Amino acid sequence: MEEVGEIKESSTSSFVFKATADVRKLDYVLVEDILAQIWEIKQQSQGTFAHAVVIGSLRKNYMIRSPLKIGSKVYKAEEKIAKKILGICEEGIYIGLLKDTEIKVHLSPDILIQKHICVLAKSGSGKSYAMGVIVEEFIKKGIPVLIIDPHGEYVSLRRPNLNKQEIKQMKKFGVKPKGYVKNVYEFAPICSRNREAIPLYLDETNLSYQDLLNLLPNATPLQKGILYEAVKRAKEEKKFYFLNDILEAIKESKSNAKWNLIPQIEQIISMKLFSINYTPIREIIKKGRCSIINLRGTPPYIQEILVGLLLNKIFEERKNEEIPPALIVIEEAHRYCPERGQGKSFASNIIRTIASEGRKFGIGLAIVSQRPARVDKNVISQCNTHIILKTTNPNDLKAIVASVEGLDAKAADEIQMLPVGVAIVAGLPLAAPIFVEIRPRETMHGGELGKI
Ligand SMILES: Nc1ncnc2c1ncn2[C@@H]1O[C@H](COP(=O)(O)OP(=O)(O)O)[C@@H](O)[C@H]1O
Ligand SMILES: [Mg+2]
Repeated sequence: MEEVGEIKESSTSSFVFKATADVRKLDYVLVEDILAQIWEIKQQSQGTFAHAVVIGSLRKNYMIRSPLKIGSKVYKAEEKIAKKILGICEEGIYIGLLKDTEIKVHLSPDILIQKHICVLAKSGSGKSYAMGVIVEEFIKKGIPVLIIDPHGEYVSLRRPNLNKQEIKQMKKFGVKPKGYVKNVYEFAPICSRNREAIPLYLDETNLSYQDLLNLLPNATPLQKGILYEAVKRAKEEKKFYFLNDILEAIKESKSNAKWNLIPQIEQIISMKLFSINYTPIREIIKKGRCSIINLRGTPPYIQEILVGLLLNKIFEERKNEEIPPALIVIEEAHRYCPERGQGKSFASNIIRTIASEGRKFGIGLAIVSQRPARVDKNVISQCNTHIILKTTNPNDLKAIVASVEGLDAKAADEIQMLPVGVAIVAGLPLAAPIFVEIRPRETMHGGELGKI
């Protein structure tokens, strides 16, 4: 092991050593069997001094209870040891290399389905790119993925990466261009602009009173009464009833409150979200399949309703084990589950429910947002793995540091300076936050489609 210095000052959480060899910020060093990371280096007339923060030890349940001895030798940490102490998995979801090393960073797929993940950063810093990397890995493992894609940027998962600069980088990361044309299915509601996608319809048969109430969150008690009567009547008259039958039943009501309810039901019908020829959930969540719900061109309030209804159905069917465990990616999550006081969304409740209960049933959430401060805190706080890219907005930084375990003020400084494509990854199963160079995409990144 290469000796790099000697301890001059120490506490139970960090130490300063005088460097006798070339050391750099973020290098991992070892004192006996204790791993630490250099966070600051100072040059003084007496020499170069590095400040290192203790991470952990190979010994199980080790806790440092007295400062490391002054004069102890400091060594460069061997990659194998650093990897072990940091808790980087040997296999799983390959996201990139530990910065400035050849150590491949894997996240455990179990952790991603039984726990949740969030990717937070300002716009343009590589969130969707990194999420694309994670989705590629899930596709390779055959684990079902559903992507709520407001910009239609994930359809490019079908095509191999042709970006010359990225192809040059691939060797270092051990990646090759590849498209997943057989696995990736694109769905879109009929009101969107995506004519090539498979039309997405929800089941219109026998909507229950509760289903309709979900669609009409602002219904008054009188309207609810009319609705209840209408559903009851439709049920009595037909084995299979549809939205039009309910509308007719409402029209027959004697109450004047129906006049406000009728246009609301007509509006729901006009959204064309429902049909008898609906898309079965088992076609959307399926082994080996990555389903993209392309919402480009869909009006925002319809997006919310669709996402809300779809996730409700998926959660229900997963609870009944009608579909396999899956990962649900929500891009621009601040739109679909906003923080209180930052707007309302029809999909908020179900996303919150999946965030708190999804794990039990094998539904993992992957939340992506450029406005961490505007995403429901209840949802972010349920995430166990965090991928943080460059963020500069003070409110967003505050929200990140507050919700990510292991991040402090000095990490916040680093987050502001991260280059594009470099992430801080924190949370399970890692002993401490790590810096990761996200690997090049095998597939084309959708954000680039416009440039071709
Ligand atoms: N890991 C990476 N490697 C190479 N280029 C990247 C990487 N991450 C991001 N980029 C580049 O940065 C651009 C913006 O990334 P994107 O993921 O679309 O940002 P965001 O979703 O955060 O707004 C991409 O078009 C891509 O060119
Ligand atoms: Mg994006």
